[in-house]
Amino acid sequence: MKSPSEPFFPDDADEPAGSIREEYERHGADAYYQQYGSTYRNPHEDSIVRCLRLATERWPLDLSRVLDLAAGSGEVTLALRDLGAKKIDAIDPFTAEAYAQRTGQLAEPFTFADIAAGALDGRRYSLIACSFALHLCEPSRLPGLMYQLSLVADSLLVLTPHKRPHIPREWGWESEGEFVVERVRTRFYRAAR
Ligand SMILES: C[S@@+](CC[C@H](N)C(=O)[O-])C[C@H]1O[C@@H](n2cnc3c(N)ncnc32)[C@H](O)[C@@H]1O
Repeated sequence: MKSPSEPFFPDDADEPAGSIREEYERHGADAYYQQYGSTYRNPHEDSIVRCLRLATERWPLDLSRVLDLAAGSGEVTLALRDLGAKKIDAIDPFTAEAYAQRTGQLAEPFTFADIAAGALDGRRYSLIACSFALHLCEPSRLPGLMYQLSLVADSLLVLTPHKRPHIPREWGWESEGEFVVERVRTRFYRAAR
């Protein structure tokens, strides 16, 4: 099996050439991760670790019950554990094997569409973290997804190599700030109710 390369490309970076990017664009994100999810690794993991440490220094993050959304192979889970988080739930429909291997935990297999349809109803998290993934959600589903997330947590951290997605207040979240480290943007939001 081919191993996954970079299924995400910073807006302002030199774009890597090659067949993997073409394949990703041709088949779409879901098919890409269905095929390569079990061996997924983020080559920018060091930047994620740095961004999360800086985020905890900059904002009053409550790490008592975290949701790692689109958790990959546990990049955020492992970094937040090192920063003191004890209880982290993970969701990812395609990387259960990679996530379990590195974290020793299970990831629930919900998709963005499931969550937009209410799959997390009744839950409560102190913080949702979504790294390198929100740009993969179909634009038409984003408002519903973001609104549902605002019903289960008061705080949201988004790490992204992209400028998108822009999350307006009408989707249930108020921006509290952003910083950029090694071309990774870290954005903090509070639920706007
Ligand atoms: C670039 S990876 C990011 C993983 C990890 N959070 C990180 O920072 O490395 C994108 C993740 O989104 C997940 N994903 C792709 N399509 C999805 C969908 N429709 N619903 C939920 N997650 C999805 C993939 O399985 C993958 O783990």
